[in-house]
Amino acid sequence: MELSNMVGAHILATGSALPDMCISNTQLSNIIETSNEWISNRTGIQERRVVKADQSLVDLATIASQRAMQKVSFLPEDLDLIILATSTQDDMFGSASQLQASIDAKNAVAFDVTAACSGFVVGLITASQYIQTGTYQNILVVGADILSRWVDWTDRSTCILFGDGAGAAILQASKKNDFLNFNLHTDGKHADKLSIAYQAKSYKDQNLDIFPPVASQYNYLQMNGKEVYKFAVSKVPQSITECLEQVGLCSNDVSWLLLHQANQRILDTVANKLSIPSEKIISNIQHYGNTSAASIPIALDEAFQKKQISKGDIIVVSGFGAGLTWGTIIIKWHA
Ligand code: ACO
Repeated sequence: MELSNMVGAHILATGSALPDMCISNTQLSNIIETSNEWISNRTGIQERRVVKADQSLVDLATIASQRAMQKVSFLPEDLDLIILATSTQDDMFGSASQLQASIDAKNAVAFDVTAACSGFVVGLITASQYIQTGTYQNILVVGADILSRWVDWTDRSTCILFGDGAGAAILQASKKNDFLNFNLHTDGKHADKLSIAYQAKSYKDQNLDIFPPVASQYNYLQMNGKEVYKFAVSKVPQSITECLEQVGLCSNDVSWLLLHQANQRILDTVANKLSIPSEKIISNIQHYGNTSAASIPIALDEAFQKKQISKGDIIVVSGFGAGLTWGTIIIKWHA
C-alpha cells in the first residue's frame, strides 16, 4: 500500500485495572526465604497486586476497557475489533470473545494474541496495521495477565517478580498518525528460558500408548532469570536504536522511555545504554511488579492520568519476554 494512502492510527484513550489485594515484600518474606531489602535492591519492586479466587482475567480486562471508553464517552458498539493480549486466558480457546460480550461490543470481532510480556506491543502493532490499511476504524487493544495463578509461590527466584493487572487502549482511524515506526523480533531457540509449559500427564509412566489421555495441566512458570536479564539488556536497546534511526530520530529526541516493567535494573540499564536520562523513564514497577502483557498499558494509562505526556511527545515503547520475543513502537502522541 502506498504510504500516502495510509490512514493514521491515533490513541484515543487508555484505561487500567488492578486487583485490590496488595502483597508487600515483607508479607512475601513471611512465606518464603527472602527480604524486602533483597527484592527492592534486585528488582525495584516493593509490592504487587494479586487477584482473589473469584476474580477473572475478563473481569480485570472489562474494567480497564470500560475506564478507557468512559474517558472519551466512547460507545462499545462502535468497536470494530478487540485484541486481547494475554498468556493467562480464563479459557484456553481464548478470552477475547468473553470480553466482547462483557463490554457489550456487539459489532466487534475479537481474538486473543499470546506473546507473553511483548503481547501488548504485538497487539498495538496489529491494531495499527488494520487501521492504517483502512480495514477497521475503532480497535480496543487490551493487555491483561494473571500470572499469580501460574507462579510457584514457594519458588523465591520467580514469585517475587510478578503481579496481576490489565490495561487498555482505544485506537482510532484519524488524520493524526501516532505510530511512526515499529519492529518485532522472535528467537524461538531460547523459548526454554521462560515458559509455562504443557505437562504431558498421560505419558508420566512412559505409557505412550495410553488412550484416552487423562486431563492435562501446565507446569509452573519456569525462568532462567540471568539469561532473560542478559537478553533484555542487549536486544532491547538494539531494537530501539534501529527503530529510531529508520525514521531519522535519535535518543535525544525521546521524550519518554516506556519499557515492559520487568525489573527496575533492566529499565535503568537500557536507558543508560541509550543515554536516555532517568527522568524520562516511565516506571511504576515498585507498586505492581511485572504484570506481563498488562505492564505497558497500565504504565501508559498512569502517565496520561498524571499528564506526564504532552502533545508532540515521542514515546518509545518496548516489550520483551517469553518466546523469546521483543519489539519496539515509536509513538508521536498527537493529543
Ligand atoms: N530472595 C533472596 N535471595 C534470593 C531470591 C529472593 N527472592 N531469589 C534468589 N535469591 C538468591 C539466589 O539464591 C542467589 O543466591 P546464591 O548467590 O547464594 O546462589 C542470589 O540471590 C543471587 O541470585 P541471582 O538469580 O543471581 O540474582 P539476580 O541478581 O540475577 O536477580 C532476578 C534475579 C531478579 C530474577 C533477575 O535475574 C531478573 O530480573 N531477571 C529478569 C527476569 C525477567 O524480567 N523476567 C520476566 C521477563 S518478561 C515475561 O515474558 C514474563
